[in-house]
Amino acid sequence: MRKNICMLFCVSAACILSTGCNDIANDETVEVFVEYQLQTTTATTTSSTTPATTTTTTTTTTTTTTTTTTTTTTTTEDLCRPFIDMDAKIDPDKPMVCLTFDDGPSERTRAILDCLEEYDSRATFFVVGRNINEYSGEIVKRAVDIGCEIGSHTYNHVDLSNVSKEIIEKEIHDTDEKIFEQIGRYPYWFRPPYGAFDNESRMLIDKPQAFWSIDTLDWSTRNTYSTVSIILNNVEDGDIILMHDLYDATVAAALEVIPQLIDMDYQLVTMSEMAYYRDFVPESGMLVINMHPDGVKYYPAPAISTVSISAEATNTTYTETTTVYENKTEN
Ligand code: NI
Repeated sequence: MRKNICMLFCVSAACILSTGCNDIANDETVEVFVEYQLQTTTATTTSSTTPATTTTTTTTTTTTTTTTTTTTTTTTEDLCRPFIDMDAKIDPDKPMVCLTFDDGPSERTRAILDCLEEYDSRATFFVVGRNINEYSGEIVKRAVDIGCEIGSHTYNHVDLSNVSKEIIEKEIHDTDEKIFEQIGRYPYWFRPPYGAFDNESRMLIDKPQAFWSIDTLDWSTRNTYSTVSIILNNVEDGDIILMHDLYDATVAAALEVIPQLIDMDYQLVTMSEMAYYRDFVPESGMLVINMHPDGVKYYPAPAISTVSISAEATNTTYTETTTVYENKTEN
């Protein structure tokens, strides 16, 4: 009997395991909850013997085994949903900006998270997969706990315009899985390292891509005053602001601008929240520059565009080519 129960369990477990694996491969099911209920099992054997006759009475109580299996189907789409905190008190009619931090997580990210939490604000962190380890993974979790968004910035910070299709796919996949390990969901947005991309990479990456409208150049200047000035002198409703949570000067700048932007009546939101409150639905391959209230500015997906630039590496090029950007309002 014990053997039977054991077999039942093993068969069920094998099914579950194989279901899980297959469904992950098929992008369908990745979470399975199983509940076993085993009713009381009794088996009694009674033997009685007399010298004249031999009577053997065997009483077996029927064993009832009830197995209840509850399967929750979770699609990849559910696990790759936008990072929107519906409990956050966001007024769609008030100005908002996206602070974005690339290349982390790092130890310096913690101070930025402390400040964001203090001011009930959120940012988007475009993390590099190889930077997530047993120590920094906790930083990624905390960011999500306080409502921040985690985006992908490749695994090795590669220039996507300069590598093979296989490498691009591996960079995206490995980063997705690294993030999933920490927070149980996949990144929704992607940002290309160096702002470098081409049509092939944009078609291969199944995520909307985030560019920026204010480049603080913090990675180059490593100067707090310069970073703060660039933001406060240029900020507009709907801007996407580029920084890097790797430098002390950037942390100091973030700690200054977060309260100042709040004082200026800006709401600090994630990329996904900004799109949501601007009624903008980003598509895979699309490259979003800003989400101004009078019209989101973006490169459309490559199927209808042949635009290709490299901006982070040559910031002057970015400024000169702004006129080629699409400028549409999506409602
Ligand atoms: Ni980067």
